[in-house]
Amino acid sequence: MSCGVDTEELVITNGAMEALNLCLEAVTKPGDLVAVESPTFYAALQALERRGLRAVEVATHPRTGVDVNALASVLERHPVKACWFMPNFQNPLGSLMPDSAKQNLVELLAKHQVPLIEDDVYGELYFGSQKPKPAKAWDRDGLVMHCSSFSKTLAPGYRVGWTAAGRFTQDVARRKLMSSLAAPLPSQEGLNEYLQHGGYDRHLRQLRAKLAKQRHVALRGIAKCFPAGTRVTQPEGGYFVWVELPKSVDALELHRLALSHDISLAPGHLFSADHRYEHHVRINFGHPDDGKFEAALKTVGAIAKALV
Ligand SMILES: Cc1ncc(COP(=O)(O)O)c(C=O)c1O
Repeated sequence: MSCGVDTEELVITNGAMEALNLCLEAVTKPGDLVAVESPTFYAALQALERRGLRAVEVATHPRTGVDVNALASVLERHPVKACWFMPNFQNPLGSLMPDSAKQNLVELLAKHQVPLIEDDVYGELYFGSQKPKPAKAWDRDGLVMHCSSFSKTLAPGYRVGWTAAGRFTQDVARRKLMSSLAAPLPSQEGLNEYLQHGGYDRHLRQLRAKLAKQRHVALRGIAKCFPAGTRVTQPEGGYFVWVELPKSVDALELHRLALSHDISLAPGHLFSADHRYEHHVRINFGHPDDGKFEAALKTVGAIAKALV
């Protein structure tokens, strides 16, 4: 995780999603306000809805992540009980918060005594030379609950995730016990064996190189085939580009038409509670490098041009 964590602070979970949900439960009660990025991962919005929580969406820059000044003014005005952010390679923007912004974020939250649920499932998938640190690395107050898993780096099916939940660890561990007793041992044992002898680091190096290459294919294809006026993020890691199409393109319509060609993309509608991103789509470039992805971009570009 690139910051020191005592094993006593770890709770093993059924993927990152369970870790995130347990952390959310530990620090909120129904009706509370939770700050999320805008746009944000739809499963975060669903988790809030499931627990009867209200979302306050904070402006998030496509390159540098959540705007800490905007968050400061939200915290002044609203009784926010927790934040759920993705500082490293945010889903869907792919943004990466600089170290100084992570530090400012952690200090701001310490000042207000607001816990941060840090979703770091993409942190290992960086295209630069250095693994970005999680916000947890600056945590002095035990307020950061760092969550991750092997789902994005190895395979989602193992369902092995974890949280380092700071001062909330005991509470999260108790909730884990009450809700599902324990995380499955066979997949943890298999992963343990693999981590010791299976070349995980080599695998990660290869995966990062493949993803960086596919990002290039995505950006090239979008520049070539999408309508004039399209804007796209330039992520430094992860699986996604976020595409802003001309305003006349309805992302849901584009999604439906693409699906009729067996092409899946995520319409912007999913990533906000208040319909802000109706002409945006998230495209996943983590596909095998077999030419199909380029062809799919061409098809989607042609459909989008027809919708303009
Ligand atoms: C940002 C983010 N967080 C969490 C998850 C869930 O991870 P897991 O499969 O480990 O539960 C995903 C999976 O899509 C994700 O994109």
